[in-house]
Amino acid sequence: MEKLHVAIIMDGNGRWAERRGEKRIEGHKIGSEVVRQITQFASKRDDISQLTLYAFSTENWKRPKMEVSFLMQLLARYLEHETSTYLDSGIRFRAIGDISRFSDRLQQAIKELEYKTRNGDRLVQNLALNYGGKNEIVRAVRRLVDSGNRIDETNLEKYLDISTPVDILIRTGGNSRISNFLLWQISYAELFFTPTLWPDFTPEELQQILEKFYTIERRFGGLSNSSNR
Ligand code: IPE
Ligand code: IPE
Ligand code: MG
Repeated sequence: MEKLHVAIIMDGNGRWAERRGEKRIEGHKIGSEVVRQITQFASKRDDISQLTLYAFSTENWKRPKMEVSFLMQLLARYLEHETSTYLDSGIRFRAIGDISRFSDRLQQAIKELEYKTRNGDRLVQNLALNYGGKNEIVRAVRRLVDSGNRIDETNLEKYLDISTPVDILIRTGGNSRISNFLLWQISYAELFFTPTLWPDFTPEELQQILEKFYTIERRFGGLSNSSNR
């Protein structure tokens, strides 16, 4: 059985906090704990090989300086302190996106965690950081052109940050949009939009989405298996 690539747009942290009369950053704090829970859950399942999480978009720099710097700090702390979570569960960490815009400390933390977890074989967690689908495609096209190789789908895919097609795309937080996430890789993904805010998202809800997914017939442009040809 082909294992699944699950991708999640983790939206709704700010609203979760605001609804409780707290600052938006409180939602991000809880959100980072949910990242840990969901990643561990995915690593324990035998049917998921990759989990790709949208943590910071190329557009999120537009937010107030305070929020951006809090997110950067939270991220650095998370990457520096979660090593054992990754190692204990056999999770390999990878960053996707253009991390060159981050501080040296953050870039260092990313590289270190990628290196320390390189042998994780239960699950690959791809964390999308300063990630934009358009940005990824443009960077890939540049590198493909520089390589002199033929411009076709197979070759372009090799230069993307991540080439595995997405099977299941989930967005929490109630909006039904893609917000520049994995534009290439979601071409045949099954889409799930849930009103649950990310800090309230649970392994049980992910389990329900997976159960629903397995009832769907994926045709990839072909015909149904049961149709009379
Ligand atoms: C998603 O939650 C996390 C990031 C984009 C970093 P938001 O911060 O977008 O929360 P809402 O959508 O404003 O509630
Ligand atoms: C998408 O959420 C980005 C992440 C979850 C990191 P946003 O909150 O940035 O998306 P929009 O602005 O509602 O489209
Ligand atoms: Mg949002």
